[in-house]
Amino acid sequence: MSRAQPAEPIPAELVVMVGLPGSGKSTWVAAHLPGHTVVSKDHWPRARHREARQRRVVTALLADGVAVVVDNTSPSPAERAPLVELARTAGVPVRAVFLDVPVDTCRERNDRRTGRARVPLVGLYAAAGRLVPPSADEGFDRVDVLR
Ligand SMILES: Nc1ncnc2c1ncn2[C@@H]1O[C@H](COP(=O)(O)OP(=O)(O)O)[C@@H](O)[C@H]1O
Ligand SMILES: [Mg+2]
Repeated sequence: MSRAQPAEPIPAELVVMVGLPGSGKSTWVAAHLPGHTVVSKDHWPRARHREARQRRVVTALLADGVAVVVDNTSPSPAERAPLVELARTAGVPVRAVFLDVPVDTCRERNDRRTGRARVPLVGLYAAAGRLVPPSADEGFDRVDVLR
């Protein structure tokens, strides 16, 4: 006989996804971090001050001891720095997960999407232009690169 056991509590951490639109971030999060709370500015496409709002949400979740994953493109160190800082302040480990996928592949996948899931090409290439692979020098306790 098998009985569902309560899931092991997930230790608090902050995971920062890094990757171009269409690189597979959201798919990877759903498959590999099912117990993490997903925060993404994409959830509030029309809200004002989305950046500040996201920081407030992440701060509150980390203070509650929740494992959080931020699922935005976060291509540049400047965009990741505030998140690293939030984790440091909360005293929880912070890791980057980088989906290192060629821009042409992302473009092909993007072309196959419909509605709001399809990003304007200029957005894809703007993100590609800002993309700097995440590094431990930015303060990440761990950097995972997936190809
Ligand atoms: N490892 C993969 N191999 C091939 N296609 C993938 C893979 N991961 C995701 N996809 C497809 O690529 C598209 C974009 O994936 P998604 O996870 O939404 O990317 P992102 O969140 O980075 O924009 C989706 O159509 C998805 O089915
Ligand atoms: Mg996504």
